[in-house]
Amino acid sequence: MSDTSKFLQGKVALVTGGSRGLGAATAETLANHGADVAISYAASADKANAVVERLKAKGVRAIAVKSDQADLSSARPLIDEVLAEFGRLDILVNNAGIAIQGQMVDDPSLDWDHYNRQWQVNVLGTIANTRAAAPRLSDGGRIIFVGSALGSHVVFPGVADYTGTKWALAGYAKGIARELGSRDITVNVIQPGIMPTDMAADVSGELPNRDAILDMHPIRRIATLEEVSETIAFLAGPHAGYINGQQLTMAGGLGI
Ligand SMILES: NC(=O)c1ccc[n+]([C@@H]2O[C@H](COP(=O)([O-])OP(=O)(O)OC[C@H]3O[C@@H](n4cnc5c(N)ncnc54)[C@H](OP(=O)(O)O)[C@@H]3O)[C@@H](O)[C@H]2O)c1
Repeated sequence: MSDTSKFLQGKVALVTGGSRGLGAATAETLANHGADVAISYAASADKANAVVERLKAKGVRAIAVKSDQADLSSARPLIDEVLAEFGRLDILVNNAGIAIQGQMVDDPSLDWDHYNRQWQVNVLGTIANTRAAAPRLSDGGRIIFVGSALGSHVVFPGVADYTGTKWALAGYAKGIARELGSRDITVNVIQPGIMPTDMAADVSGELPNRDAILDMHPIRRIATLEEVSETIAFLAGPHAGYINGQQLTMAGGLGI
């Protein structure tokens, strides 16, 4: 009898930003379900290599590719390397991103360069990777963007640019869902609430206090990486083939 948990066997996935946080968890979850996995990263070579070792220990093929998506010219070489290594690409998880938060738009000292970098990495870099991948993605493939719950509900101030990048990705995802449907490629956006990663720790000083944040959630806790990565795996899998162009918010009911 076939192992139904291995529903991604034979598939090749690329998870951008797979060296840490949700990207690393997603790479492991996709591998648990049988996929061969490439991860990209910008700086954390040691962490990326450690993820690759954990993936290989699960019996799948895995590589890590250094590819800073702030540099748009890095997109094509990234996809080339995945194709050269695995011969195909079925699943693209656009996870890599940065969060720069805390300053209000009417703050005269607003750090324009800093905030512009967020648009460059989160939006232009993600779009460059998607454009490079789309012509070479297998028919029946999957593109999953990692957005944010803030992409549906802006629940506190100081996050306008970060939120804007995530809304931009959601609109872009719907646009390309319309364009790729004829190849049975689905495109969806998963929008997690706060997760226990470096990013959340890094911006915690810019957010309301922990109790105030938890009070906003009917399910009064933050997401686990397992919940979010398993949902990404579901969207990447065969049973999600008719879910297309959707934004799925996973934030315990935040904003309902
Ligand atoms: N954490 C949260 O609470 C939360 C909530 C909602 C949505 N999200 C979204 O979830 C995704 C993952 O976030 P996370 O919390 O796991 O973040 P994280 O812990 O900060 O990890 C970010 C990952 O992205 C990579 N990365 C950053 N800049 C990059 C660049 N220029 N080019 C290529 N890779 C780059 C990092 O690589 P290096 O290790 O090499 O730096 C790392 O692998 C992001 O899109 C984020 O916006 C996070």
